[in-house]
Amino acid sequence: IRNTINSRLNENGEYDFKDLNLSKEYLKSINKIYIVACGTAMHAGLAVKNTLEKLCKIVTQVEVASEFRYRDPLVDSNSLCIFVSQSGETADTLAALNLCKLHGAKTLAITNVIGSSITRAADYSIFTHAGPEIAVASTKAYTCQVTLLTMLAIHLAEILESCDSQLIETLKLNVLSLPNKLQECFNKNLDLVQDFSSKVYEESDVFFLGRGVDYTTALEGSLKLKEISYIHSEAYPAGELKHGPIALIEDGTTVISIMTDKNLTPKSISNTQEVITRGAKTLIITNDDLSNSNFDTVINIPEIHPYVSPILAIVPLQLLSYYISKNK
Ligand code: F6R
Repeated sequence: IRNTINSRLNENGEYDFKDLNLSKEYLKSINKIYIVACGTAMHAGLAVKNTLEKLCKIVTQVEVASEFRYRDPLVDSNSLCIFVSQSGETADTLAALNLCKLHGAKTLAITNVIGSSITRAADYSIFTHAGPEIAVASTKAYTCQVTLLTMLAIHLAEILESCDSQLIETLKLNVLSLPNKLQECFNKNLDLVQDFSSKVYEESDVFFLGRGVDYTTALEGSLKLKEISYIHSEAYPAGELKHGPIALIEDGTTVISIMTDKNLTPKSISNTQEVITRGAKTLIITNDDLSNSNFDTVINIPEIHPYVSPILAIVPLQLLSYYISKNK
């Protein structure tokens, strides 16, 4: 993440995306941003959708590449199309990119591999600099994708002058604080994560809940658990649970709830209490003080703006998948 951030700062510490050639005039002409990707890379897009919309005031749609490419999407020269891919080689993402070019849209690739096919096909490319992903699961690539997309959103908003400059400064400080906070989060929580993993590694189903941006962390946490631990899991927006899936929560079911947006935490607490009533075992990832609660395990992540909290909140979940797999 340090490398990702530094790759986009000039010697004065300012954001530097000059290579993208994005003028205010061009950005004003954009009425839609598409982020197209697969799997974890798509989740990185979801994590930044709200930030882009709030900061730039441009409708942002996140699309699964394998669906997008076959659905004749409404893309034109007023669309900015962003393709996120760790490898830069995913066939569906590449096909979606070529389709957007045919429709006259500007295409921007965010990949981890210089010279990859998606990079070569796109009009512009920026790189996550996460280093090679050695195992199949995309982990550090994800946190670096979310970091770079967030920096891009801040940069676009600066050009567009579309939001409060104080918010921009706050977010820039939050981005700069990420590497140290991530280290703190890792050091503080490793024992708790290992301990919780030893309690749940024999489970057959795990549920992830979250609201707002925490729902996207829930989706990614659930994908990592399936992929690494071979445990069935589902992610739901916390408020949606009562519309059917709560029927699956029974005595001893593991429910992981993510609460990093203080505006939404009381609501998520109340949803989590509903599953406790049904006998669920709970793990909470939060930056609130929930030490006096009746949750089984609470993992505290450092204080951070909700626009960047997915970068911290996913790390305990990545580690949990790893330790569950190791225990199994
Ligand atoms: C999950 C994972 C996959 C990839 C997806 C896209 O851990 O690795 O979901 O994220 O296959 O791959 P890339 O990012 O290379 O386009």
